[in-house]
Amino acid sequence: MSQLSFDQRSNPNARSAAEREQVLANPGFGQTFTDHMVSIDFTEGVGWHDARLEPYGPLVLDPATSVFHYAQEVFEGLKAYRQAGGSIVAFRPLANAARFNRSCARLAMPELPEEVFVESLELLVQADRDWVPTTEGHSLYLRPFTIATQVGMGVNYPSKTFRYMVIASPSASYFASGVKAVKVWLSTEYTRAAPGGTGFAKCGGNYAAAFVAQRQAVQNGCDQVVWLDAFEHRHVEEMGGMNLFFVRGDRLVTPPLTGTLLAGITRDSILTFAADLGLTAEEGKITIEEWQAGCASGEITEVFACGTAAIVTPVGSVKGADREWTIGDGTPGPVTMRVREELLGIQYGTRPDPHGWVHKIC
Ligand code: PLP
Ligand code: COI
Repeated sequence: MSQLSFDQRSNPNARSAAEREQVLANPGFGQTFTDHMVSIDFTEGVGWHDARLEPYGPLVLDPATSVFHYAQEVFEGLKAYRQAGGSIVAFRPLANAARFNRSCARLAMPELPEEVFVESLELLVQADRDWVPTTEGHSLYLRPFTIATQVGMGVNYPSKTFRYMVIASPSASYFASGVKAVKVWLSTEYTRAAPGGTGFAKCGGNYAAAFVAQRQAVQNGCDQVVWLDAFEHRHVEEMGGMNLFFVRGDRLVTPPLTGTLLAGITRDSILTFAADLGLTAEEGKITIEEWQAGCASGEITEVFACGTAAIVTPVGSVKGADREWTIGDGTPGPVTMRVREELLGIQYGTRPDPHGWVHKIC
């Protein structure tokens, strides 16, 4: 239990079981939200206060509120899973709490005690437990975030007031194609992050600046953008909402955390459990030329993307302004599928959890 005590107000207009079941039959990703949300306010000199679980609903904010103008905002993404025995669990929520605070520090925002972060998730999931899908592979996506709420246009000092919130959304696969291989677009025109910037932070501004490249990816018949380094646009960093792994036989290689990419919790989990599957996993730099040549020679056998929303998603082909190639035969490979099954097995409780990652909520 944290020091803050949460006021709890249940939603008198919560949706009926029939309405909920209709949503859960086909939840999509991030489209429908549950009946409650968590809010906690912060005031400089006072700290965090007015913690509450309350009915989900719109916010009333002054148009001059800082977040609208200067994007002082950070967020997280994690899921609650319904396990076979009926328990509802989260996956490594303390890792999300720690990353959230690293993002807050970079954006000059107040850190939230890790135990408050975890308690806020627990309260929301317990209140809305009936919204946690029972369909295999579906889950309740949790979105904690903090926004700067000070009213005023000055930029001489960061906001002195903030609001932390958590909302939840039942979700199916992030990619409509489920576990089919995706096609990725090499962004050589735009840059996501440069050293000293906010690449390692999960802040809204990173995603705002990425939409133009994501739109370009879609216009080129691709599902997602691949970001490259800021200087040469040659070294692979990550994708729009997930990290990348290159498979060389039984060796997994993922780009190193140089400060410009997000330290994915799925990425870290795969680096850790690879040895349990008899695979080696390590960090290593890779250029787009090495990627293309490795696929042509057969040295790179598979590539996959990983993240909370994407789970483990095979990458089947790559397209850039001046090149295009297929990875393997373009279909999901066996190593990718083993890694995916292991991750889902730990999350849904059908495999052992030797690293102690599963956090029971109720
Ligand atoms: N990279 C970016 C840019 C992301 O938005 C995400 C998703 O959160 C990831 C990587 C994967 O991180 P995680 O595995 O913690 O979900
Ligand atoms: C996640 O995987 O949690 C993400 O945040 C990816 C994307 C939806 C932004």
